[in-house]
Amino acid sequence: MNVHINARTSAQVDHSFAQDVIAGLTQKPKKLSPKYFYDETGSKLFEQITLLPEYYPTRTELRILRDRGAEIAAAIPSDAALVEFGAGATTKVRLLLKQSSFKAYVPVDISGEFLNGQASALRADFPELAVYPVTADFTKPFELPPEVKEMPKVGFFPGSTIGNFDPDEASAFLRSARAILGDGATMIVGVDLEKDERVLHEAYNDAAGITGQFNLNVLARINRELGGNLDLAGFEHSAIYNRKRHRIEMHLISRKPQTIRVLDHTATFKTGETIHTESSYKYSIERFTALARNSGWSPRASWTDPDGMFSVHALVAEA
Ligand code: AVI
Repeated sequence: MNVHINARTSAQVDHSFAQDVIAGLTQKPKKLSPKYFYDETGSKLFEQITLLPEYYPTRTELRILRDRGAEIAAAIPSDAALVEFGAGATTKVRLLLKQSSFKAYVPVDISGEFLNGQASALRADFPELAVYPVTADFTKPFELPPEVKEMPKVGFFPGSTIGNFDPDEASAFLRSARAILGDGATMIVGVDLEKDERVLHEAYNDAAGITGQFNLNVLARINRELGGNLDLAGFEHSAIYNRKRHRIEMHLISRKPQTIRVLDHTATFKTGETIHTESSYKYSIERFTALARNSGWSPRASWTDPDGMFSVHALVAEA
C-alpha cells in the first residue's frame, strides 16, 4: 500500500487538471502541459530560476526594457491602458509604467487571489493609475473592463512565455490578443533568441538543480491534488535542445520500470521512458516577426541586448 494514495473523491479535484493529466500520462509519448508547473511551490521555484546565474532571459529582458526604455516609450501611445497577459512578478511592468504615461493597468491572470495582492501594491506605488484586474485564462477570449474601452490599448506579454506555446498556439494567442485589444492596438512581446546550445543547455540544467526541482514539482502536485502515487525519486529531470524544432524540451525520465496511479487510472513506464513537460521555443528576429505578421500584427520595432540573447518586439494591429 502506497502512503501517497489518498481518498480524494472526484468532486474534490480540479477536473480539467485531472483530465489533462490522465490523458497526458496514458498517451504515447507521454506529456503534461507546462501550465501545471505553477502552483504555489512551482511559482516560487520559478522565481528562484529567474535569479540563477545560468538563466539569462529574465535579467536580459529587464536590461532591454531599461536600456531601450525611451525607444519603447516612443512606440507606445500616451494615456493608454496597459493589458498584461499573465501576471507574475511586477518588476517588468513597473519599468514600463515608469517610462510611459499609462492611464490604466489591466493584469489578466487565472489566479484572482494573486492578482488582487499585486493590484493593491501597484495602486499604492502608482496612485494616478487605475488598476482593473481581470481573472481569466488569457489564452481564451475575455472581455476588457468597460472603463478602458475608449482608451488606446497596449498589450504586454514578457518573459518569452510565448516560447512555451507551440508555433500554432503562439499564432492563435497573437490572433486572440489582437481580437481582444482591437484595431490600432500595440503589443510589446518578449521573445528568447536562438543561441549557442551550451548556453541554452546550462540555462535549463542549472548547477544548483532548481530547474530539476521545478520540473519534478509537477509530479508532487499530481500526488497532492489528484491523490497520485508517483515516486519522485523514480524520475530524473532532463532538458535537451531540439535543434530542428528550435526548442528546449524538458522531460522527466523514468529511472525504472514502474506503474503509477492517478485517481482510478494507471500508467506504466519503461526505464528511460519520458514525460515531455515543456517546450521552450527559441526564435530568430526574422522567424518571430514572420509569425507575428502571419497572426495579424505588423512588426514596428525589435530591440535586443548587445549580445543578442533576448528580444523585445513592438507590434501594431493595423486597421
Ligand atoms: C516561463 N517560461 C518562459 C520559462 C522558460 O524559460 O521557458 C519556464 C522555464 N522552464 C524552465 N526554466 C524556466
